Amino acid sequence: QELKLSLEQIEKGGYEHFMLKEIFEQPKSIHDTLRGRLLVDEGIIKMAGIWDHLDRISQAQKITIIACGTSWHAGLIGEYLIEEFARIPVEVEYASEFRYRNPIINENDVVIAISQSGETADTMAAIKMAKEKGAFIYGICNVVDSSIARVTDAGSYTHAGPEIGVASTKAFTAQLTILSLIAIKLGKHKGHLSNQEFMRLITELDALPKKVEEVLATTNDITKEIAKNFVDAQNFLYLGRGYNFPAALEGALKLKEISYIHAEGYPAAEMKHGPIALIDENMPIVIIAPKQGHYDKIVSNVQEIKARKGKVIALVNKGDTQVSAMADHIIEFPETSECFSPIIASVPLQLLAYYIAVFRGANVDQPRNLAKSVTVE
Ligand code: G6P
Repeated sequence: QELKLSLEQIEKGGYEHFMLKEIFEQPKSIHDTLRGRLLVDEGIIKMAGIWDHLDRISQAQKITIIACGTSWHAGLIGEYLIEEFARIPVEVEYASEFRYRNPIINENDVVIAISQSGETADTMAAIKMAKEKGAFIYGICNVVDSSIARVTDAGSYTHAGPEIGVASTKAFTAQLTILSLIAIKLGKHKGHLSNQEFMRLITELDALPKKVEEVLATTNDITKEIAKNFVDAQNFLYLGRGYNFPAALEGALKLKEISYIHAEGYPAAEMKHGPIALIDENMPIVIIAPKQGHYDKIVSNVQEIKARKGKVIALVNKGDTQVSAMADHIIEFPETSECFSPIIASVPLQLLAYYIAVFRGANVDQPRNLAKSVTVE
């Protein structure tokens, strides 16, 4: 028993929990996922899985992304990325829904299956069904040689390393990194991205590990302080627009998974169609408000929330003034292209969920009722 304990402590590398260690590993896991693929000096993205099947993938009539949980949230951001850059229609489906309906899938379709573990039963069953309908299956898995990785026609591994904490963190940002590479590579190949735009995007991608390092250094203490105010909260709303709408969903999922506080993510503009009815002085609202992506609309959302006395925790870019002036708590994060902002904004959201859960005395690495990999229905 003693030996087991000390081994575990060594594995945690000085961190109190695997989750915190994995949050802090993200500059490295994103770097590892980009390594050998993103060659900025040569101006290329090298991905064998895409390259070997370039025609099949780039000429897809439609791409369907199937996944569960956090991987499904990565898929939603993948939809924005692929449609924006590669101009291929994308649908994102919960594997568990997809497998039990009669979806329209044929030989001209590409299905992207995203799974950290590569063992999720619903995702596996959905892949089998899509395969039978003749689709080409591309896998994005973290665990090498996992069942899903083996059953796909091609794929790219995320190189996030083993993820032990049940709540996914570094695997999520690695999935977003792969999806960014795929979308930009296809966009370039299909002629939708100019050389200049392509170079701007890959230079920005290359800078992400450094920016994630920076956001960790600058937001760890702040999120911990902010967390202290919300230990007894019973509900949370997470709002974001565009690329940061799925980031809001993922932020809410992190909080509910490990702290057991009810949390909902919403597109900020949908607030007026329901969630606004819930806002009073007891409702904390996390709002992701980077400079790009309809910032002015977010400003009016914050005004609406403050008029109803909601408590605003705002994620803003450095130097922000308008949202910051109204917010109760501010978390600043470095600027990047809008399409990559979820990768950076997710980090303080993970930390916020982590510290709230820790202060509530929850078992962060092994939340009740949840499993790291769901291999049965
Ligand atoms: C479980 C885990 C989640 C994960 C989901 C999908 O619910 O607790 O963290 O996002 O399964 O898992 P996968 O391994 O397919 O990404």
